[in-house]
Amino acid sequence: MSLQAELIRRHEQSLIGNYGKLPVVFVRGDGALLWDAADRQYLDFFAGFGGSILGHCHPALVNAVRQQAQTLWHVGNQFYSEPQIRLAEQIVSKGFPGRVFFCHSGAEAVEAALKLARISGGPARTRTIAMLQAFHGRTMGALSATAGPARNGFTPLLEGFIHVPFNDVPALEARMDATVSAVIVEPVQGEGGVNMPSEDYLQQVRRLCDRHGAALIFDEVWTGVGRTGRYFGHQHYGVVPDIMTLGKALGGGLPVGAILARPRWAVFFQPTTHGCTLGGNPICAAAAAAVFDVLERQNLVEYARQAGVFLRDAIKNFRCAPRRIAQVRGLGLFIGVEMTLPDAAPVVRAALDHGLVINVTHKNVLRICPSLVITRPQMEQALDILQRAMESV
Ligand SMILES: Cc1ncc(COP(=O)(O)O)c(C=O)c1O
Repeated sequence: MSLQAELIRRHEQSLIGNYGKLPVVFVRGDGALLWDAADRQYLDFFAGFGGSILGHCHPALVNAVRQQAQTLWHVGNQFYSEPQIRLAEQIVSKGFPGRVFFCHSGAEAVEAALKLARISGGPARTRTIAMLQAFHGRTMGALSATAGPARNGFTPLLEGFIHVPFNDVPALEARMDATVSAVIVEPVQGEGGVNMPSEDYLQQVRRLCDRHGAALIFDEVWTGVGRTGRYFGHQHYGVVPDIMTLGKALGGGLPVGAILARPRWAVFFQPTTHGCTLGGNPICAAAAAAVFDVLERQNLVEYARQAGVFLRDAIKNFRCAPRRIAQVRGLGLFIGVEMTLPDAAPVVRAALDHGLVINVTHKNVLRICPSLVITRPQMEQALDILQRAMESV
């Protein structure tokens, strides 16, 4: 039995089967490249659901983790520690004036945002409005805000959550009143199919929240930290939320989640209202701070914007595009390719067989989300494989 087959067998015996798996064991990575247990090389154009924003083993992140691991591990949030201060300052300076709370994941960031909105609004504001096709995570609060199949088997969820269609201002307006604590929306819907907001949608949502005194939460777990060609997705649309959630790329692949809340809302979290034992852990915070340093030093956010234009244009011009592709959409290196096929999983599998890692969401939307360190030759090679994969199914 090969090493890969043996590892898969052991995995199946010892881990719960809650993920659909592809039959590859990755053992090593470098930048946008990965190697499996048989030493076969792959181009990583998915970055582990967007987490590895700087690819694998970026020297600056390795260095930050190594230095911090030799200095201080974990003390608990009843004390101050420097790396989380540095990271919070970076989030504020790249985002908007406010204050930060740290946790470990996107779902926890959403929980924190929902709780902050609830406690800010007082007992009368018990309802939260979210969007159809939204995905906000799998904990019970975040799942209540999520729409679609992730909820299956877990209803009834929390009371007071209402879903309205994304990009539908009148539908939102009809549900807004003084009982709404928050409206939560992804600037670009990720799991729902890389769905773009119409040009003034987020501004209209902002206007409705202001009119009714509800908190506007932008869930930037996918769109935050440079992926879309701006530091945060909402910056494309000239709208500032009251609370922003972050996860995935924030830790560059280590578990870091956060919210940034404007001062008027931030004050409602006081000692005992919310917390997280390992949130802002020095090693994870040092890695996340290094992510922002690298993005800035290497001008990678602008690079993501340009690389995204290059990839989207190239995909639109594939020989097979008229037959195979319904729409190419996205911002920066957050790209969705809606296929004409009802199920795009065979394209993902064919790409993998040819050495390219991509993903599918919403049944037939390919997600192409490489790290921001991909090179032009790597993009060209990936495009070639992707085109062949689309033609082969
Ligand atoms: C927009 C959004 N919010 C929240 C989450 C949950 O993040 P996590 O899986 O880190 O809990 C996700 C995960 O895909 C997401 O896409």
